[in-house]
Amino acid sequence: MGVGVFGRNHARVYQELERQGEAVRLVGVVDSDLDRADAVAREFGCRAFGSIEQMLTTHSEVRAASVAAPTVHHLEVARALMQKGVDVLIEKPLAASLAEADELVQLAATHKRIAQAGHLERFNPAVRATIPLLTQPMFFEVHRLSVFTPRSLDVDVVLDLMIHDLDIVLSFANSPVKEVRAVGLPILSGKVDIANVRLEFESGCVANFTASRVSTERVRKLRFFQPQQYVSVDYGRQEVLVFTVGGDGATSGAPTVNPQIKVAKPTVTSEEPLHAELKSFLQAVRQRSTPVVPLEDGRRSLALALDIVAAIREHGKKVGLAGLAKAKS
Ligand SMILES: NC(=O)c1ccc[n+]([C@@H]2O[C@H](COP(=O)([O-])OP(=O)(O)OC[C@H]3O[C@@H](n4cnc5c(N)ncnc54)[C@H](O)[C@@H]3O)[C@@H](O)[C@H]2O)c1
Repeated sequence: MGVGVFGRNHARVYQELERQGEAVRLVGVVDSDLDRADAVAREFGCRAFGSIEQMLTTHSEVRAASVAAPTVHHLEVARALMQKGVDVLIEKPLAASLAEADELVQLAATHKRIAQAGHLERFNPAVRATIPLLTQPMFFEVHRLSVFTPRSLDVDVVLDLMIHDLDIVLSFANSPVKEVRAVGLPILSGKVDIANVRLEFESGCVANFTASRVSTERVRKLRFFQPQQYVSVDYGRQEVLVFTVGGDGATSGAPTVNPQIKVAKPTVTSEEPLHAELKSFLQAVRQRSTPVVPLEDGRRSLALALDIVAAIREHGKKVGLAGLAKAKS
């Protein structure tokens, strides 16, 4: 549903999964822009529809769908699908407001639907390879920098890009957020294009995030420290590096002149995250099991992103940054 830039990728991957023998058949794509739906349907060998009603009248057998319309339309599109008994994967950010996110959670419960939030990086093989390494992360440093493209400019960089990392760190830190400090600036779009955020968790863990969509380079890295360990995750290269301090000094706390630092590179089997995400969604649909990223997780990340947007505005007001007090999330 919604086959713009990102929805087209969903159609492509569903078709790939079908060709690879997965028990799935891409029957159609829906877009309010029928020309767009036609073009994508032709590309991936399925039918094009201008509305969900049209599609479900022709294909009442449809069981699952991806919702990749603009975020402001997620609720209306997902509601129409869930009310007709269709399971949904809803792109991130889950919704435009917490009230809408709550309604989505409620709809899934009422209609007993499998509903997944589209937090793609959870399916990044480098992130998956990191989960077994987690002990007691105390400090995260996260960078997500991209070059400017005139896309997704209806939301600021926190809801567009940083939300990916917020979701990952929330799942890694496993503790409620105690404090949010944030600064952000509109550079090219009129919305916040670059932001730096410091979170403190109840556990004492601290996380720093920088997200930019006006950078000259492309970086997507998450690094964290935990006792005796430093772990570096490169989302783009799908690589993980683990530095572990060994020897007596490390365990006794005494200063060590020549600490033994072991470097390990866990095996990461490369896979397109969207491929892994849709496969996992389809498995949850078939098994009627809770998806890896339930809607509640999408709501949690959205709530934090909205708190950050408010903190940025507050900071802008305090220091008299022109444009920020007016800019909407
Ligand atoms: N997971 C990721 O990494 C990622 C990346 C990019 C975008 N997204 C998300 O995907 C969603 C779409 O983003 P995009 O960049 O593809 O946007 P886009 O503007 O390129 O495409 C949106 C499409 O939806 C169609 N549409 C609008 N209203 C509709 C409706 N009511 N019913 C059906 N179709 C409708 C439009 O005609 C358009 O073709 C957004 O929520 C965005 O945040 C996620």
